[in-house]
Amino acid sequence: MYDQFNRPINYLRISVTDRCNLRCSYCMPEEGIHLLRHEDILTFDEIRDFTKTAVACGLNKVRITGGEPLVRKGIVALTSMIAGIKGIRDLSMTTNGTLLEHFADDLYKAGLQRINISLDTVDPSKYAHITRNGNLNDVIKGIEAAKRANLRPIKINCVIKESKTEKDALEVSEFCKSNELEMRFIKEMDLATGTFSTVDGGSGGSCSSCNRLRLTSNGKLKPCLFSNAEYDIRETGYERAIKMAIEMKPEHGMHNLKNEFYNIGG
Ligand code: 5AD
Ligand code: SF4
Repeated sequence: MYDQFNRPINYLRISVTDRCNLRCSYCMPEEGIHLLRHEDILTFDEIRDFTKTAVACGLNKVRITGGEPLVRKGIVALTSMIAGIKGIRDLSMTTNGTLLEHFADDLYKAGLQRINISLDTVDPSKYAHITRNGNLNDVIKGIEAAKRANLRPIKINCVIKESKTEKDALEVSEFCKSNELEMRFIKEMDLATGTFSTVDGGSGGSCSSCNRLRLTSNGKLKPCLFSNAEYDIRETGYERAIKMAIEMKPEHGMHNLKNEFYNIGG
């Protein structure tokens, strides 16, 4: 389906949980977050049925995100349910990679095709600082497991402060070159003020060619990362929510005072 600015909308990002095992300073407050109630979180059946409807409406690219998707219990089974929907031509996931070592193989077998892993620095103490206690080695093991599992391509998401020539970004870039990993630089964004720019090496942040809808883990369908607009899929109905989100997708992002990255999946 096309929106009113003639953009083909074919990409659905599904946040399967608002929880995360890390606390990246630019994403979450240190003290943790106000978690959603269990009964508000979409069930696997709801996610599958909604995605089926979305695919019937022409969305054929799906990304599973979070929070951290790998902390959702049963993520392999959910991935398999999504992968079983006829008409999805691209199924990917964005993860912080810290638990990937334990899941990469099973995710591939479940039908996941490729994976994006967040990595802002290859300095272990800086990594621990940015993520507030994450272990860099877990991510490295996760990347290796993804390679072995044949999840391809593996893309590394590197959040930068200002430029891709800052020290950490250069070091991540070197690491990617020597490990055959694709790399994307994402300038740190601020939802509340609407601070965002295009993603170097990726497709995000370009409003004129934006093809995305986002589903939060409690069932709000969002036409734009930088907008307060959302349609509750349980109240509105799946097909109607999709049609309304496409119809109301803003030409440009402005700001979003309702969400945080951990519940909208970046
Ligand atoms: N600005 C830019 N990227 C962010 N992410 C989380 N918060 C922000 C932010 N404020 C990124 C993560 C991950 C993706 C899901 O979103 O680093 O790569
Ligand atoms: Fe977790 Fe990703 Fe947010 Fe870091 S950026 S706290 S890994 S959801």
